[in-house]
Amino acid sequence: MKYQRELVVLRKENLNPACFLLELKSTDSLCEILPGQFVNILVKDVAERLLRRPISIHDVDYNANTISVVVQKIGLATEKLSLINESDKLDVVFPLGNSFPTEEKRPLLVGGGVGTAPLYYLAKTYYNKGIKPAVLIGARTKDQLFLIDKYKTVADVFISTEDGSVGEKGLVTANSVMNESFSAILTCGPTPMMKAVANMAQERQISCFVSLENRMACGIGACLCCVTETKSEGNVCVCTKGAVFRANEIKW
Ligand SMILES: Cc1cc2nc3c(=O)[nH]c(=O)nc-3n(C[C@H](O)[C@H](O)[C@H](O)COP(=O)(O)OP(=O)(O)OC[C@H]3O[C@@H](n4cnc5c(N)ncnc54)[C@H](O)[C@@H]3O)c2cc1C
Ligand code: FES
Repeated sequence: MKYQRELVVLRKENLNPACFLLELKSTDSLCEILPGQFVNILVKDVAERLLRRPISIHDVDYNANTISVVVQKIGLATEKLSLINESDKLDVVFPLGNSFPTEEKRPLLVGGGVGTAPLYYLAKTYYNKGIKPAVLIGARTKDQLFLIDKYKTVADVFISTEDGSVGEKGLVTANSVMNESFSAILTCGPTPMMKAVANMAQERQISCFVSLENRMACGIGACLCCVTETKSEGNVCVCTKGAVFRANEIKW
């Protein structure tokens, strides 16, 4: 079931120069939301055209009826969204897409940049089931990291920065935690990072799931602008068949 609702901006927090968090409150109870699912937010551009933009669900609070998202300012809609104020309303369609697996015995979650955002709700889901996952976070520099202490409440956190300003120096694939044994690797971030992580997982015969961030518009399988090529099903819409896929299913 998908809903289109007006959600109120309960809290807005700048996390670093590029990213901000929005906590969005629903007046009605929330339906079940799975880790890896996303919302499609309606934003007006400068010419007052209406654009919907897909943003991953970072956290859900069923008691407060809130969904949190972390947004990186990258272009027209996300810049416009960064100007929103607390108490403003947003037209949001949710929950969209499928889910990361939540039954792994020892998962490693790997996030790059703003792709780290959905991994909090995923880590929390595992933690609430009695499994403390490992979360490996990659960024160019420490200024791009966000909410690390929050992740540490539900996971063992490992960090790689390209300049070595925090954690191990280098790419996530070079982090020492990658040498430990895991039942699965679940990853979200820039495509080259996910591809490299998927290759490593394949070499080590660990199952790997990736969350693709193809450009989207409708979010419900109608416009076909988010298509990706898979090995077993050919071209599929990322918004309805994904955004989470088995890495070895994707024709990168
Ligand atoms: C399932 C899904 C989940 C996402 N989750 C998040 C999230 O949690 N937080 C977040 O900040 N962003 C997320 N994104 C990406 C976000 O949707 C885009 O950054 C946003 O739509 C850009 O809109 P814009 O108008 O600001 O930029 P535009 O003006 O449309 O584009 C600006 C630049 O960004 C590039 N770009 C636009 N969309 C994407 C994309 N999807 N992937 C890579 N490059 C892109 C364009 O090619 C262009 O160079 C997600 C995308 C998907 C598909
Ligand atoms: S975004 Fe329209 S079909 Fe996927």
